[in-house]
Amino acid sequence: APAADAGGGAAAVHPIAHGTAVTELRGPTAAAAGGAVRPYTVTARTATVALASGRRVDAWTFDGALPGPPLTAVQGDLLDVTLRNEDIGDGVTLHWHGYDVPCGEDGAPGATQEVVPAGGEFRYRFRADQAGTFWYHTHQVSHLGVRRGLFGTLVVTPREAEAEAAAVDLVLPVHTFDGVVAIGADDGVLRQAAEPGAAVRLRLLNTDSDPHRFALAGTAFRLVAVDGRDLNEPGELSERGLRLPAGGRYDLTFTMPASSVVLTVDGEVRLRMGGGDDVATGEWPELDLLGYGAPADVPFDLGTAYDRHFTMVLDRGVAMVDGRPAFAQTVNGRGHPSIPEQLVADGDLVRFTVVNRSLETHPWHLHGHGVLVLARDGRPGTGSPLWVDTFDVRPGEVWDVAFEARNPGVWMNHCHNLPHADQGMMLRLRYD
Ligand code: C2O
Ligand code: CU
Repeated sequence: APAADAGGGAAAVHPIAHGTAVTELRGPTAAAAGGAVRPYTVTARTATVALASGRRVDAWTFDGALPGPPLTAVQGDLLDVTLRNEDIGDGVTLHWHGYDVPCGEDGAPGATQEVVPAGGEFRYRFRADQAGTFWYHTHQVSHLGVRRGLFGTLVVTPREAEAEAAAVDLVLPVHTFDGVVAIGADDGVLRQAAEPGAAVRLRLLNTDSDPHRFALAGTAFRLVAVDGRDLNEPGELSERGLRLPAGGRYDLTFTMPASSVVLTVDGEVRLRMGGGDDVATGEWPELDLLGYGAPADVPFDLGTAYDRHFTMVLDRGVAMVDGRPAFAQTVNGRGHPSIPEQLVADGDLVRFTVVNRSLETHPWHLHGHGVLVLARDGRPGTGSPLWVDTFDVRPGEVWDVAFEARNPGVWMNHCHNLPHADQGMMLRLRYD
């Protein structure tokens, strides 16, 4: 079988271009002017944790909790997070999903750091420059570690927006523990008081390996941010389904009505807000993200001449993996670690064309770089520019995305259905 995550456990940390070790590409050690230092210590350990229903889960945890401790910062702060591993035998790292951190802080074991063994620790420092909804998770045997609970949320609030902060701001990570879907540690129906007229923000996160379907009933709402990045002029929505890819985040806002508001996940009521009358939920048509919001200037598009253009054909089957034929989830007919690296230079404009020839959805995720969606099946979007860190490539689809290579190092580029990544659907992008 392919090696463990990111090239296998305690493999040597490779030099990148010109002899620079990735470990030299570390983050700043001070906050921006006016920012604060946010010190956190999170400890990975096994624990048996009770969900809200009383159901007990044998978990791998941060700080004994499911999910791990919520990390927060204001834009410009320095996040200073010490990871300790008490007893996770497979080892642990922290990866800042969607956050474009310096490479040495990225938490990819065997690529950007050594895995943190039981008894070990690692200190991560980076500037909270991106405001929005993010999450962190282990990147070591992540198909096991994340599923068992080694993840938590990271929310960075814009510095200037203190005044317009929502009165009710809920962070709602959706995760399947032992086959049971929970929001946070609540596997029942969350209840949330909210005064009529209150500004509400819901931050939905999908920490599973498959997409979840959401619907909000009882109010019109806006989808204001995707993957922590604001949309341009998002219009009011009602009776719309939202499909959230594995790893992705949606921020919804609305004004609390006098009646109740209800959130469903995969058709089940999972959050009830306010004390008003019941509202009807439904199976509503799915919002097409590429047609939502208003167009705005983008730095590049389908017509741009790119310095590099990589095509990744996703499939599954028997492939050469480490010199031997094995069943794998493949990119261009090969499985990790036998997929050639993608080489870029600092400043390159890079385009990816991702072709899904398989019968499964592949939520594609590049570390260290938000990407702009150029087209789905060759058609450019008609709505807001869409910057994401994870995009669902469904069976038969072709997605084109692009980014400017401005974050030197070596970066994992993989399917965020984590079992797929473990079965080979992972490669590296390296600055040369
Ligand atoms: Cu959220 Cu490489 O992962
Ligand atoms: Cu996949």
